[in-house]
Amino acid sequence: MLRLLDQRLLPGRLVWRDCPDAAAAAAAIRSMVVRGAPAIGITAAFGLAAEFARAPASGDAAVTCFEAAAGRLHDTRPTAANVRYAVERMRARLDGLLDLGASPAEVASGLEAEAEAIFAEDLAANHRIGAFGAGLLPRTAGRKARILTHCNAGALATAGYGTALGVVRAVAESGREVEVFAPETRPYLQGARLTAWELLEDRIPVTLITDGMVGSLFAVRGLDLVVVGADRIAANGDAANKIGTYQSALIAKAWDVPFLVAAPFSTVDLRAPSGAAIPIEERAPEEITEFAGAPVAPDGVGVWNPAFDVTPARLITAIVTDRGVARPPYEQTLRSLSPA
Ligand code: MRU
Repeated sequence: MLRLLDQRLLPGRLVWRDCPDAAAAAAAIRSMVVRGAPAIGITAAFGLAAEFARAPASGDAAVTCFEAAAGRLHDTRPTAANVRYAVERMRARLDGLLDLGASPAEVASGLEAEAEAIFAEDLAANHRIGAFGAGLLPRTAGRKARILTHCNAGALATAGYGTALGVVRAVAESGREVEVFAPETRPYLQGARLTAWELLEDRIPVTLITDGMVGSLFAVRGLDLVVVGADRIAANGDAANKIGTYQSALIAKAWDVPFLVAAPFSTVDLRAPSGAAIPIEERAPEEITEFAGAPVAPDGVGVWNPAFDVTPARLITAIVTDRGVARPPYEQTLRSLSPA
């Protein structure tokens, strides 16, 4: 059975939650027990496999349950391309098995195998992304390399190793000294709670800052590289990622520091021509008006809480995928990396 580490409780407590069916998977994604685009895609895949396996023995009823669950999972977090990728892959596998006349038990084990494959492929993809991305870190003349990230695009957000933090890990594994700067990532604090914890666990030096300190960090301390993850990358290279990413990209451009987006190809959505076609999730006002459950803003204040922003392709030095490194013009390079 799928078991998820409850990321809402980190870094204070390590609590695992059982996820026996698609409804539990959808609830875990919506409530942020699990978050990060690849991790929620993988969760959706295992949720669908579990849903088919526990449905009534009749194949038709199980297919109906599967389709209802697919719809629910698809709508959980609209920005992440990986959820749609996982749902579409699971549906294609289901259709293939049904066309072959597989029994309900054979379909159930085929779907489980597909979810396992999505998990294993993501893990392998992250190691390839790490290797490609590490090669793009500029020389630092014998001193520690200083890398800025945003949110958490690490092992917690993926099958393991991470995308942006996979690049950091690959740099550290190559023997280069590295120091990471992690903005806290308002309002949900993925940087403070998750990235800082994950890197400290790996003994990679990390310094926590507030989101508003990024400009000063470039000006006062200096940076060698920015690397972030993505929830969805459009065909023209525009990339949606955690709110706050766009301003880091603008500042990196002003300081002429390379800005990398690291993501598996399952995050690339060639059906979205540009960032304007990417749906941006808006979350509850309480994430901003309250802090740890206590009010920090006056009752009745208006709130805008988009969970993601879109960094225009012109600010992105390179998009590091598991299939290789794409550089501008992304319309051509992303398509040329795409599986047929
Ligand atoms: O709201 P979250 O925590 O799911 O947002 C996550 C991010 O923005 C990550 O950077 C992105 O999903 C890539 S994770 C490898």
